[in-house]
Amino acid sequence: MIETFEPLTQQALCSRLTGHPWQTLVQVLDTVDSTNNAAKQLAAQGAPQGTAILAGHQTAGRGRRGRSFFSPPGAGLYLSVILRPQVPPDRLLHLTALCAVAAARAVEAACGLRPGLKWVNDLVVGRRKLGGILTELTLKPDGSLDHVVVGVGVNCCQTRFPADLADLATSIAAETGVADAKADLAASLLQELSTLEAALLPGPEKDAWLAEFAETCVTLGKDVQVLRSGSVRPARALGIDENAGLLVEYPDGIREVIASGEVSVRGMYGYV
Ligand code: BTN
Repeated sequence: MIETFEPLTQQALCSRLTGHPWQTLVQVLDTVDSTNNAAKQLAAQGAPQGTAILAGHQTAGRGRRGRSFFSPPGAGLYLSVILRPQVPPDRLLHLTALCAVAAARAVEAACGLRPGLKWVNDLVVGRRKLGGILTELTLKPDGSLDHVVVGVGVNCCQTRFPADLADLATSIAAETGVADAKADLAASLLQELSTLEAALLPGPEKDAWLAEFAETCVTLGKDVQVLRSGSVRPARALGIDENAGLLVEYPDGIREVIASGEVSVRGMYGYV
């Protein structure tokens, strides 16, 4: 039997953002190809920091490394927000990790379940994927940062998945019994993301977020495969550096920090 879900409404979200400076910058749409694409278009037209696009359904939801993000109607949270941090692009190396912490905090606030983070951008519960983060930077012609679009997708309501995802994916409803966390999750996530800027600069805020990322990162201590331009190398994940890079050790004892976005990391025995 096909599951059907109530769509998230603008009213349900905005009523949870009363007094928040981003409350008037939120748009909840019915269907888009990708909320990241829609947000990038708005950003190119000058939309301010905090402009957020949410959709009930994505026809071409995107993940990192050209993967798709399964986005059936009403089942998940599909949200993209425009940020315009006043920092040079090289200060943003840990941005995806910080957004992942924001998403983990928001899931916990919305349903009581604290997901793990698979380095660097996946929310997981046990061995299954709950959601993911896709951050996309746009630079000005002079190389300075124009804007960032942070896209977050979280499986919320579905209790069944297509056969190819059945062993790999999970949802808030399947894990906690909270039937529809979309509005609470969206509001918590926007609140968390709006506090992010202080953590992009060196200082106690950044240290605290990075420590929280490392504590939540289920990849640490695991045997992984480092996938880089066609090559696959086994390694052991040891730690997180100051840019949220993953410190790994290869069987020959050589250590290397893998930058976010540079390579993909897979568990040796499955998705996580
Ligand atoms: C990943 O799994 O690699 C990241 C998935 C990110 C999915 C979200 S859903 C909202 C936003 N729009 C997209 O097309 N992608 C992100």
